[in-house]
Amino acid sequence: MKALIAGGGRGTRLRPITHTQNKHLIPIANKPILYYAIEAAVEAGITEIGIVYNADSLEVPNYVGDGSRWGIKITYIPQEKPGGLGQVVQLAEPFIQKESFIFYLGDNMVVGGVKRFVEDFERQNVNCLLTLSKVKDPERFGVPEIKDGKIVRVEEKPKVPKSQFAVAGIYVYDSHIFEAVKNLRPSNRGELEISDAHQYLIDKGYKVGYTEITGWWKDTGKPSDLLEANRLILDNITPINRGSVDAQSDVAGRVVIEEGARIINSKVRGPAIIGKGCVIENSYIGPFTSIGDRTEIRSSEVEYSIILRECKILSVGIRIESSILGNDVEVVEANGKPRVHRFMIGDQSRVEVA
Ligand code: G1P
Repeated sequence: MKALIAGGGRGTRLRPITHTQNKHLIPIANKPILYYAIEAAVEAGITEIGIVYNADSLEVPNYVGDGSRWGIKITYIPQEKPGGLGQVVQLAEPFIQKESFIFYLGDNMVVGGVKRFVEDFERQNVNCLLTLSKVKDPERFGVPEIKDGKIVRVEEKPKVPKSQFAVAGIYVYDSHIFEAVKNLRPSNRGELEISDAHQYLIDKGYKVGYTEITGWWKDTGKPSDLLEANRLILDNITPINRGSVDAQSDVAGRVVIEEGARIINSKVRGPAIIGKGCVIENSYIGPFTSIGDRTEIRSSEVEYSIILRECKILSVGIRIESSILGNDVEVVEANGKPRVHRFMIGDQSRVEVA
């Protein structure tokens, strides 16, 4: 069994963060989203992983490396232009060859790993195993129609969904999927849809099984999804203090404080993670907050947020909440009179002021 991870795409719904950073490298609890996919595959005993990346940027290969840090081998497969998940699978055939494989969309997160899906695929003895998750908005996803315990249809982003399930972005295939993706035609949005490949398998009489993900699963396509994923991961962290907390500070709940981070005269309410070399002074850090390395927060309050590295939040009068700050962002008090908001904000940013 090999694994194929989709690590390309443009991440348009996560702009402006994705203007300068691949969406798969956005940190959740200070770890790139993509690492959760890699680690899930490693935990399932997989030692060969292919990652499809945007050919115009080596950001993902350079950052993730050859896999040796996990004791596995990673092969990088360039995608010239985004052409849909069907194309991602097409490109991977020389890497996968005749083996079965797990196909994992690098922006999906799931609790409980993927080993169980590989086991279900083998136990059900199918050509393709889809993982399904009950969602409030199935029209955003691939949606199965189920009759007598069998998937009879899969539709991509249907206006009128035939069930409450989303097909999650974690699939297990045998090599018949390559026949399916070779027969795809571009959809209305100009992509080779993975849902159409699943429909092809059904139409040709191949066995398409499914398993329901009863626990937590998320496609982190939107900013609110990132915050929710961050919440969930932080909820399960093991507290540790590798930095320093002075006598005037109060740290409670599950909090990870990384090397060289200093908490001075501040209150931290976990779950939260504070990156290497951060300075938190005269501040409040509330639950479900991840703070990247070398960020400085002074005389401010931050809660339920993802702050990337090397930011400065200084003397901000109102609590920052449900926010995502990119790398090297400054939010600081405007000095002098009249009291004003003064902005220097890049394309496609969003600011809410009270
Ligand atoms: C893709 C698939 C869709 C699936 C979803 C899961 O959608 O096309 O079938 O339900 O991933 O994350 P996209 O992220 O391209 O909108």
